[in-house]
Amino acid sequence: MPLNIQAHQQTLPQFLSTLEPAGTRDWGDISAIVMNASRACKAISLGIAYGALGGVTGDYQAEAGQSINVQGETQKKLDVLSNNMFIHCTESGGQLAGMASEELTLPHQIPAPLKRGRFLLLFDPLDGSSNIDINTSVGTIFSILRCPESHVDGDVSEADFLQEGHAQVGAGYAIYGPSTMLVLALGQDVNGFTLDPRMGEFVLTHPSMRIATETQEFAINASNSRFWEAPISRYVDECLAGKSGARGKDFNMRWIGSLVAETHRILMRGGVFIYPRDTKDLSKPGRLRLLYETNPIGLVVEWAGGRASTGEMPMLQATAKSLHQRIGFVFGSRSEVERIERYHATISAAEPFL
Ligand code: F6P
Ligand code: MN
Repeated sequence: MPLNIQAHQQTLPQFLSTLEPAGTRDWGDISAIVMNASRACKAISLGIAYGALGGVTGDYQAEAGQSINVQGETQKKLDVLSNNMFIHCTESGGQLAGMASEELTLPHQIPAPLKRGRFLLLFDPLDGSSNIDINTSVGTIFSILRCPESHVDGDVSEADFLQEGHAQVGAGYAIYGPSTMLVLALGQDVNGFTLDPRMGEFVLTHPSMRIATETQEFAINASNSRFWEAPISRYVDECLAGKSGARGKDFNMRWIGSLVAETHRILMRGGVFIYPRDTKDLSKPGRLRLLYETNPIGLVVEWAGGRASTGEMPMLQATAKSLHQRIGFVFGSRSEVERIERYHATISAAEPFL
């Protein structure tokens, strides 16, 4: 295959060195964190690409038997390897005060003698990992926050990470699909990079990504429909009614079961994603995790001109009470997300949930 990188196409390091968002303090540190995260994503991508040949598919067997993470989910071997790779590639950079991961119950402290910095990194090292064994797209999600001044230099605590999504200084995801891509929300803009496997470099292929305002495609796990709130049932019923219903147009539906893959589809061709709060398990107010799933994806979506919501309020204004808190998530094309918010506002008042 010919090497067809165009002279005008920037690699990730070139892109980061020319971007200096106005008003962003410590840009050197932020771009170094992004570079280190991108290295982890390259390593994870390589591990995944070997599939069954690499001996890394299947469940993780801890010494004491099967391993269950803090979410109560069975860990895949690649969940554990990706988590370790992400920590390994980012903790020695000197920019981080601490980290939090979907796979770790407590925050990860930067060990001595490594230098500690002023930022916090939160990540889901392998999102959608149940798709690994069926060779379907998975991803990595990350979010960068400033560490509260009081804990720079000392150990970080759970409370340091409980910041609103608006406080993120940057976020992004990698998608390991037919090609590996890195999509970054930095400086109020969203840019997509494709991994050139021959050079081992991410190359800017999708500058200033924008989400279409209108759409006729929705994504929801309909097997949960009996647990939905009334506004969600109304919205989906109207989509299913198509041309002859209240919406007067036909809709298409997709469900991959991998948040990163659904996000990428919506960035590329519009759509709305719904994983609402429901009554399936009242101890879990939603499926997805606020700090390292819905906040970073929310920042990408908002900076790409879409809307990210809990269903009732902007996702980036939601406050976390704990590190692994779950929340309802509705995002994508602005007009559809706003419609779902309106349905919540009108129906919730008349017909309270729970
Ligand atoms: O991280 C959780 C996750 O795997 C997401 O990637 C995905 O959107 C969702 O769960 C799939 O949920 P379900 O198993 O209900 O389809
Ligand atoms: Mn996930």
